[in-house]
Amino acid sequence: MTDATAPSATAPDAPAVAGAEGTTIVVDHPLIQHKLTLMRRSRTPANEFRQLLREISMLLAYEVTRDTPLELIEIETPLEKMMAPVVAGKKLCLVSVLRAGGGILEGMLDILPAARVGHVGLYRDPVSLAAVEYYLKLPRDISERTAIVLDPMLATGNSAAAAVSEVKAAGCQSVKFVCLIAAPEGLKAFHSVHPDVPVYAAAVDSHLNDHGYIVPGIGDAGDRIFGTK
Ligand code: URA
Repeated sequence: MTDATAPSATAPDAPAVAGAEGTTIVVDHPLIQHKLTLMRRSRTPANEFRQLLREISMLLAYEVTRDTPLELIEIETPLEKMMAPVVAGKKLCLVSVLRAGGGILEGMLDILPAARVGHVGLYRDPVSLAAVEYYLKLPRDISERTAIVLDPMLATGNSAAAAVSEVKAAGCQSVKFVCLIAAPEGLKAFHSVHPDVPVYAAAVDSHLNDHGYIVPGIGDAGDRIFGTK
């Protein structure tokens, strides 16, 4: 695992954004990198793409929950009693940014089945690339939970920042963001709005193109997950 403070060590310098601070954690485990390469290939079909995203998401879940506090409880093994660790403290809420966030959500829920789930529906205005909200449903007790916001592509950072703002507006004070691929420009923009929210990514790519797509990237994550193109 690499802990890179923006600008990331794996990304070329992006235009500076005033006040940009924050933490980006590039989870560069060999299995994640291998699976991501398979996903990037344009000829990878939707069913394989979904399965790979699910597997990578399980591995990202492992990393994003690394700081989960533990407490000791007494249990009895077949041989003797012992004090054994279990997860303690705040519970989790996974927040999926529609629609592509659903691709990460499945794998995360495989590892974190007790987590609550929220949804934020956002689309990108094709001209301004601004995030436009059309749906919001968060658990009532989200303020008592750690929220992990999920969206495969952190491109301009607009949707990511808007989704995290909604989660904070609901009272949540502990928020993390998980994506598959981030763009350096998006990371700077995101961290300038939410410097307290760490971003976990499998890769930081080169740059955004004129249409707001991450290059080299994977293309449109939603279309590739659901086979809609
Ligand atoms: N959204 C995507 O699905 N892909 C990108 O490259 C950027 C935003």
